[in-house]
This record gives sequence, structure tokens and C-alpha cells, in this order.
Amino acid sequence: MKKLRIGICGWGNIATGLYDALQSDLLQQLDDLNISIDCIGARRDNPICDYGDIPVFRDIFDIPDQDVDVVVELIGGVEVARELILKAINNGKHIITANKAVIFHHGDEIFQAARDNEVQVLIEASVCAGTPVVKLIKNELAGNNISKVSGMLNGTSNFILSSMEEGMDFDEALSIAKKEGYAEPDPSFDIDGMDAAHKIGILSHLAYGSSLPPKEFYIEGISNISTLDFKYASINNLALKHLAVAKMREGSVEMRVHPVFLDKKSSLASLHGVRNGIEIDTDLVGKVYLAGSGAGRESTASGLISDLIAIGRSLDNNTAVISHSLNVAIKDFDLAVFKYYFYLEVSNEPDIANAINSCFADNNVSVENFLQEDATKDQQVVIMITTGLVNEKNAQVLLDALSCSSFVTSVRLIRIEAN
Ligand code: HSE
Repeated sequence: MKKLRIGICGWGNIATGLYDALQSDLLQQLDDLNISIDCIGARRDNPICDYGDIPVFRDIFDIPDQDVDVVVELIGGVEVARELILKAINNGKHIITANKAVIFHHGDEIFQAARDNEVQVLIEASVCAGTPVVKLIKNELAGNNISKVSGMLNGTSNFILSSMEEGMDFDEALSIAKKEGYAEPDPSFDIDGMDAAHKIGILSHLAYGSSLPPKEFYIEGISNISTLDFKYASINNLALKHLAVAKMREGSVEMRVHPVFLDKKSSLASLHGVRNGIEIDTDLVGKVYLAGSGAGRESTASGLISDLIAIGRSLDNNTAVISHSLNVAIKDFDLAVFKYYFYLEVSNEPDIANAINSCFADNNVSVENFLQEDATKDQQVVIMITTGLVNEKNAQVLLDALSCSSFVTSVRLIRIEAN
């Protein structure tokens, strides 16, 4: 039986989750592989987990010097993690990481170092935790042309939006997500869309060979969503989700992350709570759909163990599972086309509906649906509008025009994702 000796760097929620999961009977019963934790790099102990007799090094940079096959990087962050990973690669260690930020920012450099040193860097847990989208794109769908990858890639955002749909307020939902270990140590990465951006950047690299880091692309989070948006969604049979998209169009990639309305009957719309869902449009197998828990210690442990088993089983035949970037461009977001939802708060003036409609017409944006709420006590009226198809640039020009008009107190938009 092959023995796989690993050193774990980091001893937080994710690392201790991996330790606990590795004790399972299921793994003890693998008849071709024995995974052994030979050392741990941790600045301090963690009261939630006792590591028994395993040697512990207080300097994580000692771990790549130990006699192990794999360094499992679970310290998070970017620059120190990069340094640690590169040291381990240069020492001939295989790498497993759940760290999407370091792969997003330094993936090209890390994968190149891995090729130079003939070691593997496996990153299943970095995108959607244990939901196996990385291997799905990299291996099982390798014979397909992929035209679009889209999904809810941030468990915290999906948890918050589904909780708000059920009437909970934003702050309460966020505090539960923190308590359950879904949110990042700095939750602004979740709610500002950065975490989902890291993940779609990685998936775009796997599907299309875009670089890591990618060129700049559009990123918007969920902090401006209000309860009235859910009312609009319900009236129009839509679901409000936070979506990350990488789509191949005429040789370049349209990459974007933002809230969208989805048809309530679509597969992604039905996913609630911390679940992640991904749709992959392919030429040979059509639409492939995958869903699972996308955050938390158990789900991440599942992704890490799948990489440990992949490395352990490949060591005999030295199959490298690493990739390199191609020179693929990122499409100008101004050219992306959507139907839009405009949410406006306006002063309750006579003929306000005509004034708003004129503003849309003057900017060549057609109105498909117009919904006006009753005036509030302070004479404000909420108007919710669905437009026809229009490109992002025109929508932004209209948004600016509305923001500047004297009768509009506040205005924002949400894109409606086509099926
Ligand atoms: N904070 C992340 C999320 C954790 O909520 O999806 C998993 O990457």
C-alpha cells in the first residue's frame, strides 16, 4: 500500500476540519493508500483540535524542509502563502491548497514553478470547497469546448440572499454565516464579490486558459440589495442571486461577478443557503450542472481529501495535473448585453411616470415592465422597471442620467441573466 506523507501548514478551522475528516473509517479502509500527517506548521495551538503526537513546528516555513510528499497550504492570505508554496515546490513537494486568493494572484507563477520542478499543485478546495468543479472541468470535461461557466460561487452571499428572501435582515444573516465558518476572516471579501471573483478567475483559467492573475474585470457584491428587490423578484417569478460568469465570445472571455435576477425555474435559482451551484455549457454533453455545499470545514475537507487521493494515486505513474495560461483576452464589459432591472426612488410629482419613461426613451432603452409603489409619508415613490435588451455602456449612461435628474432620489440597477 502506498504511503502518502503530508505536512499541514495552518491550524485553523479548515486545517482542523481536514484533520478530523482524515480520521474517518472510510479513509482507513482505502486499500491502495495510507495518508499520514507527518507534521503540522502552526504558530499556535487550536483549542478545538488536539493533534496528539504529531510533531508541530511553530515556523510554517520549516514544513517544506521536512521529509513529506505533500505540503497542504491552509494558512490563507496571499504573499506569505505564495512564498511558502514556492519554497515547498522548489524543495520538490507536491502542493494542495484551498487558498483561492493566492492562486488567483500568483497562479501562473506557481504553476510554472510546479512544471519546472515536476510536482503537482492541486486546488480542488479553492473553488466551491468540496463541490468537485475543478476536476470536472480539468479532467472529465477536457474533451469539450466550454462556452460558458456560470454559478453562485460564494456560499456566504447565497446564504445571506436566501435568508433575506425569507425575511431575515442582512446583518443577522452575515453574523450567522460568520458563526458557521462560511465567511472569510474578512467578510468584505464575500459581500463585495472578491471571493467569487477569485473563484471565477480560476475556473476561467481552467476552461479557457485566461491568465492568473486575470486582466481586470467587472466585480460587484451584494451590499446594495434591499428587501424590495425580493418583492420585485417574487412578482416576476425571478430569483435574486449573486452570479459569477466566464463566457467565451468570439475568442475572448466575458468575465463578470454581480447580482442578477434568474428565472425562478432555472436550476441555479432553486439553490438556497450555503449551497454553490455551477452550470457549464459544453458542446459534447450540453449543459452540465453541479451543486453542493461551497463553504465550511467539512465541505473543504472533502475537496482537500479528493486532491490527496488524486496525488497519492498518481505518484506511481507521475501524472501531472497542472495547467498553463494562454494569451486569451478579457472582453470589454461595456459590450455585454442584458435586460436590466432599475430600482428608483423618486419624488412624488405629477406626471412622474411620464418623466421617467421619457428619460428611458431619450437614452434608447426600451421599457418592458413598469411597476410603481404607493407614495410614502415623505412623498417618495419606488418605481421598478424591467428594460428590453441593452448593452452595459448604454445602461450606465442611463443610470448616470437618472442619478443627475432632479426628481430621482436614488437609483440602481441589477442585471437579468439570460437562460
Ligand atoms: N467564504 C467562502 C464562501 C468560503 O462563503 O464561499 C469558501 O470559499
